[in-house]
Amino acid sequence: MPGILDGKVALITGAGSGIGRATSAIFAREGARLVLADVVEKGGHETLRMVKELGADAIFVRTDVSKSKDVEAVVAKAWRLSNTSTAHSTMPESEGRGG
Ligand SMILES: NC(=O)c1ccc[n+]([C@@H]2O[C@H](COP(=O)([O-])OP(=O)(O)OC[C@H]3O[C@@H](n4cnc5c(N)ncnc54)[C@H](O)[C@@H]3O)[C@@H](O)[C@H]2O)c1
Repeated sequence: MPGILDGKVALITGAGSGIGRATSAIFAREGARLVLADVVEKGGHETLRMVKELGADAIFVRTDVSKSKDVEAVVAKAWRLSNTSTAHSTMPESEGRGG
């Protein structure tokens, strides 16, 4: 059965724990492609691994939402992702897709 977010790209901040991680799991189950953002890399990578196990196409981008340059960069990545077929085809390994 298709998910309600099939074909959508979601940018989730604070994705490394708590509400952000729980939201990431729900969005993954509903078919969204995910850009996971968090200032803490360890938690971000853990969430990335989790959503990949759920079958999501996802990347993690280390982001401090208090820094406008970081926010601009992660939004630009999400925008690029929304114009491509998979996260994996466009994002380098260093941006955290490894999981
Ligand atoms: N309104 C409510 O009823 C309600 C209920 C629960 C939580 N909250 C609030 O929602 C927020 C999230 O709660 P939570 O339980 O998921 O917290 P959490 O601490 O588990 O998660 C916060 C995440 O944000 C990340 N983070 C912190 N600073 C960051 C930054 N500058 N840039 C990017 N990422 C950053 C952390 O690394 C962490 O992974 C908190 O502010 C909490 O107070 C509100």
